[in-house]
Amino acid sequence: MNILAIETSCDETAVSVVRAEGAFPNATYTVLGNALFSQIDIHREYGGVFPAVAKREHARTIVPMLERALDEAALTSTPYTLSDDVHEELATLLYREHALADALFAHLETHEHPEIDAIAVTSGPGLEPALWVGINFAKALSRAWDIPLIPVNHMEGHIFVTLFDGVKLQPVAFPALALLISGGHTELVLMHDWHKYERIGTTRDDAVGEAFDKVARMLNLPYPGGPEISKLATLARSEGVVPTVSLPRPMLNTDDFDFSFSGLKTAVLYALTDKEITLALQKEMALAFEDAAAEVLVKKTQRALDAHATQTLILGGGVAANAHIRDSFAALFAQEYPDRALYLPKQNLTTDNAIMIALAAHAQHARGTVFDFDTITADGNLEL
Ligand code: KG4
Ligand code: ZN
Repeated sequence: MNILAIETSCDETAVSVVRAEGAFPNATYTVLGNALFSQIDIHREYGGVFPAVAKREHARTIVPMLERALDEAALTSTPYTLSDDVHEELATLLYREHALADALFAHLETHEHPEIDAIAVTSGPGLEPALWVGINFAKALSRAWDIPLIPVNHMEGHIFVTLFDGVKLQPVAFPALALLISGGHTELVLMHDWHKYERIGTTRDDAVGEAFDKVARMLNLPYPGGPEISKLATLARSEGVVPTVSLPRPMLNTDDFDFSFSGLKTAVLYALTDKEITLALQKEMALAFEDAAAEVLVKKTQRALDAHATQTLILGGGVAANAHIRDSFAALFAQEYPDRALYLPKQNLTTDNAIMIALAAHAQHARGTVFDFDTITADGNLEL
């Protein structure tokens, strides 16, 4: 089956077409089309993501992304191109309407229907105004092409894309453990089976990605801060920099699987008081902060691996792009758990994209759940 997936939960507008052959979890996947517009340059000016701005940009770019993904997939007889007038009207409708607009649907209905069997869309968690753009558009497409609509949990997408080796999903021994680390989440999730999740740990305050972004801002680095901190810390490490500041490891030894990053962030703020932000200071702080964050993530995850005797660890979410965090987990598994499986997401699929939504949707579809069109809504706090 061919799945067209849409992702608009935060600041990436993404549409993908993925062909699934065979039955989940042994299916083979081919990415036929993959279009992604990153709003990062727009949000950088404001130093972060404002929901209203994200919504406007999703409304403006989602139709061009649909066209690009469909053209790459070549599932229509002629290129799938809507006129400039239609583009403008759709952008306006998607920005304004919360209900499914008839006009939106009418434009899509009369255009050639591509060989797509189901539409998948992120329904949460994320920024609700942003999620709604994707959901309304997905509903319009599903109605126009008369195919089912599958709502997907964004975090489940991060799990599935980590398992994706480019062709198939890697084997998973249950119970498995997932560490999900992104701009909005820091969670340890026990997977008892496919789709059977139990959250055993979470952050008590900031998400780890959020802490990366906030510390970056204190160091006068642009948004998003994660990659900037990572670059500087890597440089400092290669130069043999030894930080003079010592930062706390919040909740490192507590008897649970929870995290806290706000104290770490505040410690950085104090350490910077009355100091001029020089490149040397940026490098030192980036290194000290990244070391502290990675150590807490590894240690708490190790506690969970031991307590639940899980044979598989799945690392997912934007922060899983971090080289030092990846290396730290790889070292842990090489030393302590050589017989267990560690799955890391491919570097180019680590941050938000729509391929992850298509993969999770295929797994949902395999369960045979039929979703009631009208009850599919955006849920900013959707849990696994
Ligand atoms: O999963 P994602 O793309 O969006 C959310 O669902 O939140 O994650 C974005 C987060 C941001 O906080 C960003 O700073 C962080 O992932 N991030 C990184 C790196 N690349 C992205 N954090 C640390 N190191 C990186 N290399
Ligand atoms: Zn994400």
